[in-house]
Amino acid sequence: MTVSAQADLGRRVQEWHDDLRSAVEGLYPDRVDEVHAAVVGRVAAAAGSRKAALVALDRQRERRHDWFLEPDRIGYACYADRFGGDLRGVEARVGYLRELGVNVVHLMSVLRSRAGDSDGGFAIDDYRRPDPHLGTLGDLEHLVDTLREAGISTCLDLVMNHTSADHEWAVRARQGSAYHRGLYLTFPDRRVPDAYEATLPEVFPTMSPGNFTWVPEMQAWAWTTFREFQWDLNWANPDVLVEMVDVLLHLANLGVEVVRLDAVAFTWKRMGTNCQNQAGAHLVAQALRAALGMAAPASILLAEAIVGPDDLVPYLGHHERQRRECQLAYHNQLMVQTWSMLASRDTRLAAAALRRLPHAPQGTTWLTYVRCHDDIGWAVSDQDAAAVGLDGAAHRRFLARFYRGDYPGSFARGVPFSTNPATGDERTCGMASSLAGLADDRRGPGSPGVARLLLLYAIAFGFGGVPVIWMGDELGLGDDEDYHLDPTRAGDSRWRHRPPMSSEQMSQRHDRATVAGAVWSGFARLVQARSHCRALHGAGSVRVVDTGDPAVFGWARQHPRYGSVLGLANVTESAVYASPSVLGALDLAPVVDLLDPGATDLLLLEPLAVRWLSADGTYRTAPRPR
Ligand code: GLC
Repeated sequence: MTVSAQADLGRRVQEWHDDLRSAVEGLYPDRVDEVHAAVVGRVAAAAGSRKAALVALDRQRERRHDWFLEPDRIGYACYADRFGGDLRGVEARVGYLRELGVNVVHLMSVLRSRAGDSDGGFAIDDYRRPDPHLGTLGDLEHLVDTLREAGISTCLDLVMNHTSADHEWAVRARQGSAYHRGLYLTFPDRRVPDAYEATLPEVFPTMSPGNFTWVPEMQAWAWTTFREFQWDLNWANPDVLVEMVDVLLHLANLGVEVVRLDAVAFTWKRMGTNCQNQAGAHLVAQALRAALGMAAPASILLAEAIVGPDDLVPYLGHHERQRRECQLAYHNQLMVQTWSMLASRDTRLAAAALRRLPHAPQGTTWLTYVRCHDDIGWAVSDQDAAAVGLDGAAHRRFLARFYRGDYPGSFARGVPFSTNPATGDERTCGMASSLAGLADDRRGPGSPGVARLLLLYAIAFGFGGVPVIWMGDELGLGDDEDYHLDPTRAGDSRWRHRPPMSSEQMSQRHDRATVAGAVWSGFARLVQARSHCRALHGAGSVRVVDTGDPAVFGWARQHPRYGSVLGLANVTESAVYASPSVLGALDLAPVVDLLDPGATDLLLLEPLAVRWLSADGTYRTAPRPR
């Protein structure tokens, strides 16, 4: 380690001392000094083996904390094998990613996971190397380096709530190692599990009912929130924290710049609760953030907490006082509310729900998305529904029916997921294109399905946060109809929207006479407009605007230096005129539409059209050649 790297480490350990200490005090009050020292020990070891390019990036990002808030930050998410076949195949497609204009890539199912059904790669056998069918550790390092050199940050998952039942720790626990058994939550009989079950929901009620699995070799019940082969880790044991800090820093030293904390909400259990979003889960995230801050400040944390609106903002550090926690969190509410607006052709519920949501704290932002590799859960709160005269349960049922295509006026062709007759809950699967109405619409590029898909993304791109394109949406890729032919996938309809990339559609992307080409050019417009509009910098604020018309969703972005942008989306299939009063949200005239700079009749919104209106002259950078 160079003398200056040593000095940096000393400074950062000091700088993050109090953050780590208070998290550890909250988690393990009886062992504070010991656990704090153990974490710092792992930090020092990791910092010592950090490569020069990452040391340089650490320094650069300590000066530019807001690197991920820049308006040209745009993400892409894919299964590595579905996108490129294997790691080298992904590398061969870096040019495609650059052409699309994305610069953060979330690669899923990269680390070695359980053979057979692995919950889509979320049952990890080995946190330190890629799955052999994708390539070697050398291939992974090469890919991450290549991406970084191309200006693209890599995002990987830290699956932190559980390991696979075949992970070495679980194997050794079964063989009788007390240390490894202590890493998991196991119970000799049903007494404690039953007491927990009284208040625990089921995540996969159809695929994997209940939250505990009998393990004969241990003569014990293991806590298994998700699938029976995913054993929950015992975060109340500080050894888990120390082991996971080590894994986290291993990923950071590989060059992973965005670490997605998979299922972070579930990490801390407390009797009598649903064991989600507990104070301990936040302290765990704060401890991991401190470890990263010390050893690898180039990397940031993304919270995967797909939870109700009231539980969301704390993952960005919004507590009784602000704490440093994750820098990014999925904007699940925006995602759900956008689909809800399209189905009901009414924006009032979305406006009420989004208005109520606290702002992302300074220095953090949302990850905005239209859909992901998981099912969509219709997270509409009863309170928000009641505020606009709706019944929450009835509206959630309506959305589930609408998106499985079983409702008058539905354009969607989704499929149900985890229908739970006990609670009436039903979630939805399907690619964005099939939920948006492209599935059996043969009208080609002019189809309303294309407009709907682009409307969804125009909101995700303009609302505030880092937008992420789910693989294939940029081409209007459809569902994988054949997923059930694979017995390890047949029982999990999420595979419907995890299709392989279509090289045929990829090759059509420059032909606007095709659906793929029409969608691609729509994305190109969004990427261009967003990247060059300084007013969309993540440090600005967003507010939902009252448009006076339920057909029109309006929001205003405001940046203290770079001006404002007014977003208007017509969620109906009829043209409407927005009221001139909405322009009051902008401070200057004349106004242009950043998505269609030649447009003149700016208040006219064609069916399913979106405008991003901005005062002409709003600080914009010159387009960069791609
Ligand atoms: C996350 C993943 C999901 C997985 C679950 C359990 O929610 O996104 O795919 O099933 O965690 O790891």
